[in-house]
Amino acid sequence: MKTLIFIIQSDALKKNFMQYSKIIGLGHAVPQTIVTNDDLSKILDTSDEWITERTGIKERRFFDPEIEGSLAKMAKKAADMALERAGKTKDDIDFVIFASITPDYFFPGSSVLLQRELEMDTIGCLDIRNACSGFIYSLSVADQFIKTGMYKNIMVVGGEIQSTAIDLTDRGRSTAVIFGDGVGVAILSASEEQGILSTHLHAEGKYAEELYVKDPGSSRTKEERQPEQILDTSGFKVYMNGNMVFKHAVVRFQEVIEEALNQNNLSASDIDMLIPHQANLRISKFIQSKLGLPDENVFNNIQKYGNTTAASIPIALSEAWGEGKIKEGDLVCLAAFGSGFTWGSALIRW
Ligand code: UT7
Repeated sequence: MKTLIFIIQSDALKKNFMQYSKIIGLGHAVPQTIVTNDDLSKILDTSDEWITERTGIKERRFFDPEIEGSLAKMAKKAADMALERAGKTKDDIDFVIFASITPDYFFPGSSVLLQRELEMDTIGCLDIRNACSGFIYSLSVADQFIKTGMYKNIMVVGGEIQSTAIDLTDRGRSTAVIFGDGVGVAILSASEEQGILSTHLHAEGKYAEELYVKDPGSSRTKEERQPEQILDTSGFKVYMNGNMVFKHAVVRFQEVIEEALNQNNLSASDIDMLIPHQANLRISKFIQSKLGLPDENVFNNIQKYGNTTAASIPIALSEAWGEGKIKEGDLVCLAAFGSGFTWGSALIRW
């Protein structure tokens, strides 16, 4: 009897503690309106040549409230696609995590708005505000919930409407030309087969103001809070010290990918697909060459969508998987760097 109880208990323990999270479905949605580099050069002192050479971007999508409605509505489209591809319904989902720095409202975050759009039950909803690393942070949180046995199926979203936060005047041209809008969704499910092998998260808050949007935060001085000063909207636009972000990004990307590989006793040559956050094609190419990866083992779509912050990895993952570029058993590496500074990686056995 004692032995039987032990076997049952150890089986239960195994079930609880040997649990992996697997990505079983992916979806994405981007706005209809295509904005080319030539379109931007009509309103900004810039050119297709400069943008292509410095960033690799050819076009991006800009949200139109008349067409897409809201970030939550766009997220619903991506979520429906992810659920269908996962063979699940919204009623199978136990929890929603939504990474965005451009949510519909200052609060509440977009997770509850998506829950409402999908007409889900009263499941918990969490918002993550880690900018370009938001999706990796969200994936990590979801992975912990699944590993502990708390939830079985989690919807993880990265979505942005960056076009409302960029300064489309000559003053903001170096930042304005890189950002775009879109949403990507992943459905994570508990599995006894390998899935997410590890996630690694880092931050360095001393650089917070090198890439940030100041307003509508609570940092305004008494004078800045006077009604006439409220009309100064410059603080609502993205400020980025591009050169500095670039220099930190190339170092941190490589570091955090190597950290993931080392922890799993793997090497760069084991990576079947690297999907870096789509910050700048020059950054992706630099990491690719540092890791010695051939072109077919790295996926980039920044050329079409620009830098969509928290959405860039799930959109790219959804496209790469949809195009059959990620197969069962592949080792997939995701990595991101951005505002905070925050950065992270995820290593996944597909
Ligand atoms: O996703 C989150 C993290 N973000 C990133 O990782 C972004 C990292 N940074 C970058 O990708 C790059 O710094 C940018 C693409 C944003 C800017 O490229 P850059 O090579 O660092 O350009 P720069 O700001 O150093 O500017 C070089 C020159 C300047 O002219 P001078 O001073 O050399 O005469 C700028 O005024 O290019 C000029 N410039 C432009 N010219 C045409 C800056 N922006 C533009 C523009 N069009 N849009």
